[in-house]
Amino acid sequence: MKISILFVDDDKDVIDGYKRMLFSMKKYWDLYFAISSEEALNLMSENKIDVIISDMKMPGMDGTTLLGKVRELYPQILRIILSGHQDEIKIIRSTTLAHQFLLKPCDANQIKKVVENLYALRKNLENEKLLAIINGIGQLPTVPALYLELEQIMNHPDVSLERVSKLITRDPSITAKILQTVNSAFFGLPRRVTNLLEALSFLGTNTIKSIILYLETFSSMDLPPNAIEYYESIGNHSLLVAMIAKEIGKIEKCDKQMLDDIYIAGILHDIGKLILLQVPHYFDRMIALTSKYGRKPIELEYELLGVTHEWAGAYMLGIWGLPSSIVEVIGFHHQPSKIIANDFTALTAVHVANALSYYKEETFDEKKLDLDFDYLINLNLISKLELWWDSTKKFQESANE
Ligand SMILES: [Fe+2]
Ligand SMILES: [Fe+2]
Repeated sequence: MKISILFVDDDKDVIDGYKRMLFSMKKYWDLYFAISSEEALNLMSENKIDVIISDMKMPGMDGTTLLGKVRELYPQILRIILSGHQDEIKIIRSTTLAHQFLLKPCDANQIKKVVENLYALRKNLENEKLLAIINGIGQLPTVPALYLELEQIMNHPDVSLERVSKLITRDPSITAKILQTVNSAFFGLPRRVTNLLEALSFLGTNTIKSIILYLETFSSMDLPPNAIEYYESIGNHSLLVAMIAKEIGKIEKCDKQMLDDIYIAGILHDIGKLILLQVPHYFDRMIALTSKYGRKPIELEYELLGVTHEWAGAYMLGIWGLPSSIVEVIGFHHQPSKIIANDFTALTAVHVANALSYYKEETFDEKKLDLDFDYLINLNLISKLELWWDSTKKFQESANE
């Protein structure tokens, strides 16, 4: 079946340019064009659209508002922003408004690559068994409202910590949970933090934003009453993996954007486990088999349900519109060699951090790590493992305190 793509740009010449440039794609794609957000919304109400590629600055309803509406009305449509400004992309990059970003001018090949990669990830996730599970549990949690509000105010270049803090403290229960989390031994803060403003200045707004996403998502799910302990252990494990992964990223001299991606992907990497917990009787069956035969949870997921927590988590975060660089990490964190990679990425950091988080030996032996060795050999990173372990075992220790 053809992919249907809607282009939105208020500049008629730009639209004509797309038409010429993408003429040869007509075999694979159904193309739609709109010169305003309003026209785009009309086209979406009358046609089945798979992908929207929109400009940002437009008179009347701008691209940000348009994509916000698409996220709400048609969450299944993949959203791509095409902008002429690197700065604009930088700001939007950390929001859930778009799945991908393209910088103008870009050629047909770039558009083709971005669309096809996104589409492939989405198609992969439309596995029948996964969809049956998702449909069976009813409504998936939506992006927490507070997270979206934070995104909105953080889009302003001159937003102050005070403003961010005021917004969050409107909700006393989340504020208490954030303070409890940041005061846990994990963060190794020099002293007890007693108010949110301090927490923000110690850890930065992006870290706090990821923690909110994590706390709100975890608390919005209904869990079997006997799974509380398991659920808390996933929470602690996720924080530990995020810390280790970020440290590995620092050692590898990743830039700030990548470190933020690594942290948020680390925190959310096992979120699919919570989705699977919503499947009736799954938890009891899984626990019985794990304790009886000491089987690995991921093998059991596959055996009992036909899907893994990687796919369930990636599906949900994909629908929420988290950037595909993060969704990819969630979807492949146990088997990164399943995707094509040439470099160290957030996926590398989280994959290794996950394995290191379970490593309890006094001395280092890479063979005891549950790693995708083909992947690491291919990237020439095996020799780095010991250094990464040595520099991150301090987090293990604080987690055990
Ligand atoms: Fe996992
Ligand atoms: Fe994990």
